[in-house]
Amino acid sequence: MIFPDYRPRRLRQNETFRRMIRETRLSVDDLILPLFVIGGRNVKNPIPSMPGQFQMSIDYLVKEARLARDVGIPAIMIFGIPEKKDAFGSQAYAKDGIVQRAVKSVKDKVQDLVVITDVCLCQYTDHGHCGIVQDGVIDNDATLDLLARTALSHAQAGADMVAPSDMMDGRVAEIRDTLDENGFFSIPIMSYAAKYSSSFYGPFRQAARSAPLFGDRRTYQMDPANSLEAVREVTMDIEEGADIVMVKPAIPYLDVIYRIREEFDFPIAAYNVSGEYAMIKAADQLGWLDGRQVMMEALTAIKRAGADLILTYFAVEAARELGGST
Ligand code: PBG
Repeated sequence: MIFPDYRPRRLRQNETFRRMIRETRLSVDDLILPLFVIGGRNVKNPIPSMPGQFQMSIDYLVKEARLARDVGIPAIMIFGIPEKKDAFGSQAYAKDGIVQRAVKSVKDKVQDLVVITDVCLCQYTDHGHCGIVQDGVIDNDATLDLLARTALSHAQAGADMVAPSDMMDGRVAEIRDTLDENGFFSIPIMSYAAKYSSSFYGPFRQAARSAPLFGDRRTYQMDPANSLEAVREVTMDIEEGADIVMVKPAIPYLDVIYRIREEFDFPIAAYNVSGEYAMIKAADQLGWLDGRQVMMEALTAIKRAGADLILTYFAVEAARELGGST
């Protein structure tokens, strides 16, 4: 492969050649759209740090879900913003909680759309942590039952898949057991397996009102410096029954996605998180880059690294770019 015998530019000279040798193809089938649901009616509050994203009441959420389906997106992921918070996050597993009602409505009104729920306590606890707090410490084992109850209540409301994002040890097994015992053995689990303690979640925490009141999440979410540990986390979640494993965030952790792809033959999801979205939107608004092109490049890069599925606030825009109908 020495110049002038090999000239890589030969196959780059026009779009038709480029199209023929393209290695990675982003598809609308890869996309999952995260949505925020809040109480009330006719509510559509713009999220300042996430232009184009909203806190929506259930009526709007249904419309947004339908729009996602109409542009070809196969799945949405629902995050709830409850009216009340308490020490045990009881609204997370309340039968008439915001997510449970939202799931029911979307499943009733929108066909052919997979509804995934985020299973966590942080939006529901008054201290904002993802688990129960005892003497200032996040108590792993005391939290497991509440997470399992949350997942079960989502399944009972009609969720097609549950996605635990809390990072407690052993929660996948606990959720799998509880779902199975209650007859929900067909509901897959997408675990946030390698979820890092990341400042890229900043805009989400404003949107979901879920920032911790004291301390941070470093005793349960992963240290950004580690990737061997990601392999252990993914191994553990698969052994406990995860059907899809997630790496989160995406762009700053492409090496982790690549590594997990090399080591495992399970479907991999990557979460293109709020901060990744916010940075591109902000730079676009300032005229510092072309947001549309950077979005497609970023999503393609996540796919190239090895992700099968991408959770992204860009899902609708990207689907349109990819030639979705509406
Ligand atoms: C809840 C949760 C978070 C995100 C998804 N689920 C925030 C956090 O862990 O603090 C972040 C998503 C995003 O930034 O887009 N545990």
